[in-house]
Amino acid sequence: MNADILFMNNKTMEATGVLDMKAAMNDVEEVYKLNATGDVINPGKCVLRWGKTVEDENMLGRINAMPGYIGGEYDMAGIKWIGSGPMNFKKGLPRASVTIILNDPDTKLPVAVADGTAISTMRTGASGGIAIKLLAKSDAKVMTICGAGAQAPTQLEAALIAKPSIDTLYVYDIRPENAERFAKATREKYPNLTVIVENDVEKAARESDVIDCVTLAAEPFIKGEWLKKGALVMNMADYEVDRECVKRASKLCVDYWENVKHRMISTIALMWRDGEVRDEDLHAELGEILIGKKCGRENDDEIIYFNAVGAGIMDIALATRCYKKAMAEGLGTPLKFWE
Ligand SMILES: NC(=O)c1ccc[n+]([C@@H]2O[C@H](COP(=O)([O-])OP(=O)(O)OC[C@H]3O[C@@H](n4cnc5c(N)ncnc54)[C@H](O)[C@@H]3O)[C@@H](O)[C@H]2O)c1
Repeated sequence: MNADILFMNNKTMEATGVLDMKAAMNDVEEVYKLNATGDVINPGKCVLRWGKTVEDENMLGRINAMPGYIGGEYDMAGIKWIGSGPMNFKKGLPRASVTIILNDPDTKLPVAVADGTAISTMRTGASGGIAIKLLAKSDAKVMTICGAGAQAPTQLEAALIAKPSIDTLYVYDIRPENAERFAKATREKYPNLTVIVENDVEKAARESDVIDCVTLAAEPFIKGEWLKKGALVMNMADYEVDRECVKRASKLCVDYWENVKHRMISTIALMWRDGEVRDEDLHAELGEILIGKKCGRENDDEIIYFNAVGAGIMDIALATRCYKKAMAEGLGTPLKFWE
């Protein structure tokens, strides 16, 4: 009885094209569509949390287990196991570290173990990019990214693919040195983009067509009264935008509604818990827009709120693409799981 698994570290993942954002956006679109047609198994996250509150979690950390199965051309099961150490920066380590296990959906045996750290930022950037493609105003020019950490570069990369009209970027971070570091790298990478570090988040938000929040904030810092006509406000993490942002939006969109409610950490989830948002108030999941069941943005005036909680099926889709390439090209390290 023999069984092999393929071990893929970060270098192998790079060699398989994990950093290709257009491919990641294609994968994420497919995942959204398969989710909308029911060809996935997508349970809620299991959160191994240190401490008792969201504030504790954002200090002490967590490890999330995100299993799933994805059909279509992927036909793969697996799990994302993502550790978050918010104080890791003091040790010079990244906050998030990701291990992905892929399992054959027939035998259920593991076929691969991969570093999923780049996958996680790529698929989250891609998810933001798809939201911008479907929900941002047609000629969006000004974007604010709040939170200049690991997610920020991929949020921007996908945004510029989705809306090449974006010509100005405000960067806001509670740690201005992070904003400066991201701004410097961004200016080098995109010389035609005007990049402004803005510590006055109100000023940046008031001017923005797209406000993309990828922070660790447990208290809202974006106010609904600041949103201009046609704005898309993206709540990519927790309780980052106030309830007025949701109330002012003419469309409420999410990635996976059941998972948003299960995770119960974002503004719209907390409002649903408190009876301020009902199931029928949700306009669409992105997959429903992609398969034509619901519409996306209808005019350049409406304010739209988007929340993404993410799901393991996205990571599994990207990992499956990389795994297939690794198998075809002899990349990675085969290991004897059973001899
Ligand atoms: N929706 C998804 O699918 C998805 C996927 C991955 C990560 N996330 C979330 O995105 C967030 C960012 O992840 P990351 O890997 O970039 O983290 P990171 O730790 O690398 O960066 C976070 C940045 O946010 C800044 N920040 C913290 N609190 C802030 C506040 N109150 N106001 C402004 N800036 C603040 C930090 O200084 C840091 O620069 C996390 O909350 C993470 O859980 C969401």
